[in-house]
Amino acid sequence: MIALEEKILKEGKVIGSDVLKVGGFLNQRIDVEFLMEMGKEIARLFEGEKITKIFTIESSGIAIAMAAAVYMKVPVVFAKKNKSANVGDDVYTSRVHSFTHGNTYDAVVSKEYLKSGDRILIVDDFLARGNALKGLIDMVNQAGAHLTGAAIAIEKGFQGGGDELRKKGLRVESLALIDSMNGGKIIFRH
Ligand code: G4P
Repeated sequence: MIALEEKILKEGKVIGSDVLKVGGFLNQRIDVEFLMEMGKEIARLFEGEKITKIFTIESSGIAIAMAAAVYMKVPVVFAKKNKSANVGDDVYTSRVHSFTHGNTYDAVVSKEYLKSGDRILIVDDFLARGNALKGLIDMVNQAGAHLTGAAIAIEKGFQGGGDELRKKGLRVESLALIDSMNGGKIIFRH
C-alpha cells in the first residue's frame, strides 16, 4: 500500500537497525482516518473469503483489526496476554516469546469466541519473527476453525517470520513489507 509506505517514510523513526517506531499513527496516537483506509485495503484483499471473524492480540492489533472489521462486517476477537499460566478449561492458550520485549506470556482466548465453523482472518499491526502470529494460529487450530490467512500492517521481512509462514502455505498479506532498515534507510519489498 503506497500510502502506508509514504507515511512510514515521513513519520516513522528507525531505532538501531531493526525497530521501527510508528507511535504517531499506529501504536500510540491513532490516525483513525488512515487506519480506516488500511482496513478497507485488508477487506479488499480478502474479499470473497467468507470470513466470519477477525482474530488479533492485544493491544496494538485491536485498532487495525477493528478498521478491517468495519468493512468486512464481522466481529473482532482478541487474545489477551496473561502473565501467569493460571488459566481454566474454558480457554485456548498458546505460549508466546517476544524477542522485542524479551518476555514470554500466555496468549489466551475464551473457547466461546472461536468455533470450528469459523473462517478466521488474523490481523496484526507488526510482523517480525512471527511468534505472536504463530500463537494466534495455534489457537485457531485448537478451535478447529478454518484459517483464511493473515493481514499485517507492517512486516519486517528481514526478521523472517512472514516468509517462514508463507513457505508453510499460509496466505500472509502485508500492507507494507520492509526488507531492510540498515543505517536507518528503509527499503521496501514489492
Ligand atoms: P513477533 O511476534 O513477530 O515474533 O515479534 P516480537 O515478539 O519481536 O514483537 C513483539 C511486540 O513488538 C509486538 O507487540 C509487535 O507488534 C511489536 N513490534 C515488533 N517489532 C516492532 C517494531 O519494529 N516497531 C514497533 N512499533 N513494534 C514492533 P506487542 O508485544 O503485541 O505489543 P502491543 O501490541 O501491546 O503494543
